[in-house]
This record gives sequence, C-alpha cells and structure tokens, in this order.
Amino acid sequence: MIAVIGANNIDLISYIKRMPAAGETIEMKQFSIGYGGKGANQAAAAARMGAAVLMVTAVGRDLFGRQVLDNFKKYHIDTTYVKQVEHVPNGNAVILVDDSSQNRILIHKGANAFLGPDDIDKAASALAACSLIVLQLESDLAAIYKAVDFAWDHHIPVIMNPAPAVTGLDMNRVKKCEFFIPNETELASLTGMPVQTPEEAEKAAASVLRQGVKQVIVTLGSQGSLWMRDNKRVFVPAYPVRAVDSTGAGDAYIGCFAAVYEKSRDVERALQYANAFSALSVQKYGTQTSYPSMTELKRFFHQGE
Ligand code: RIB
Ligand code: NA
Repeated sequence: MIAVIGANNIDLISYIKRMPAAGETIEMKQFSIGYGGKGANQAAAAARMGAAVLMVTAVGRDLFGRQVLDNFKKYHIDTTYVKQVEHVPNGNAVILVDDSSQNRILIHKGANAFLGPDDIDKAASALAACSLIVLQLESDLAAIYKAVDFAWDHHIPVIMNPAPAVTGLDMNRVKKCEFFIPNETELASLTGMPVQTPEEAEKAAASVLRQGVKQVIVTLGSQGSLWMRDNKRVFVPAYPVRAVDSTGAGDAYIGCFAAVYEKSRDVERALQYANAFSALSVQKYGTQTSYPSMTELKRFFHQGE
C-alpha cells in the first residue's frame, strides 16, 4: 500500500490564447472544472497504475469536499484518513493554460491548511502498514516534517516531491527521504543554481546529494528526466509529443513512478513508465482526466517497438 499525504483541490482551468494584460478582459477558448491538488493527483496516478493507495488529506465539509471524496472512491483510494473540515472551503486552484500549453497556477489552500501533525498521529497504524510514503509541499510543513520523521522511524521509504517550491525548506529533515523529485524550477529555487539544461540539472542535483539526500530525480519537462545516486547518473529523454496541457504532468510522473517502484523496487523501470505516463498526460486536456489507463500505457510502449 502506498500512502499519499498532501493536498487536494478543485481545479478551475481556463484555456486562453495568451495571458491578459493588466486591466484587459479577454475571452477564454475553453473552461473546465476538474479534480486536482498535487497529492490527490499523485494518488490518482498511482491508483491508475494499479497501486493500492491510502490518501491522507483534508477536504471542506462542502459540495466540493464531498465531490473530492467521491472522486477518490472512484479510483478505489482509501479515504479513511481524509479529514472533513467545518466552515472552511475545500482547496481550489485557478489555472491558466495558454496556447503554448504552459500553465500558471494560483492555489487557495482552504481545508488543506488544516492537515496538521496530529493527523499523521491519527493515521499512524495505517501508515505503518504502508511500504512507501509520497509527500509534496502543498500542505502545512509541520505535518510534512512529522510524516518524514514517522517514515524514518518505521523504515518506510519516502518520495519527496518539493512542489510547489517553498522558501525555508529544512534540508536536514528532507535528507531522510529516499527520493527527492523536483522539477527544474523547484530545483533552481532550492539550490539557487541555474537548472535549464540536463548539464545544469546534474550540477544542482549533485549539490542536493551532497546535502545527504540518497537519490535525486529531476524532471525537465520536454527534455526528459535525470536520476542521480552516488556515482550513478541516468538520463531518460522525454518522448517527442505534441503537448496541449501540461497541468498535473509532474504529478502524473510521481504517482506512476511510485506505483512501479513500489511493486518492482526497480528505479530504471519506474523512470521509463513515469516518462511514458506523463508524456501521455500532456497530450490530453485536464489534470487527472488526462491520466492514461494501463492499457493505453501498454499500447504506447508497444507502438515504439
Ligand atoms: O500540479 C498540478 C496541481 O497543482 C493542480 O491540480 C492544482 O490543483 C495545483 O495543486
Ligand atoms: Na494534461
């Protein structure tokens, strides 16, 4: 069982030709409402890949919160430790996607801000039975650190996706995580180093390894991904696909990686699957709605043979 501890949102996605200027009104090409939040997306991706998933998050006791709970159930995700928070709206995200498929995201934490260290305590016996814990930085840092310490005490490997980039992340806590998986922007902001090319990513990842993290995987969007541990370095080029919406592609990558790694404990295999899974997701609109099924993923792999 994989535990994903993190945030869930309702995504309000506006597809636009270009970003509006200050004071300007422009018409959207398309609008859609979907399920999102980095934690929830990663849980959905792992479930799509056949993993049993336990979700620890907080929803509002409102219409959106109920819909998010139903959505987890649709993916057969265990919601025993999904907390319902009174008098606070569910988390939501306003997302702008332009013609270049790039997104800009505004989040309102809402109920997610109320997931605290005590919620990790409450879920302790269920978490102790998990073989992998997946974390991001969209929740309260105190809860995240608590989860890292819990996993360390119970010898459970952690995948830390430091997204979104936050200032003041305590690397002494984070180095207890087995995997650290940032994208280029997050790695640049964490290290203060440029991360635009695979070569720059390698230098920045090496500096994270020197801080004590065991394994770093840098996702570089359309360039691919880079895995580093000790003296090992593996670069996986991205598939040359036509991206229409990259929202949640990083989460797709992490969730799929977690599912394949949990089953096989084979990092290179997990990298290959995650690379394909996220490549499929950027070719469709939406966040979770764009995640492929295992059948679609297999078909994609066989096409290239
Ligand atoms: O990573 C994509 C996600 O970021 C979106 O689903 C949105 O909810 C924000 O959390
Ligand atoms: Na997508």
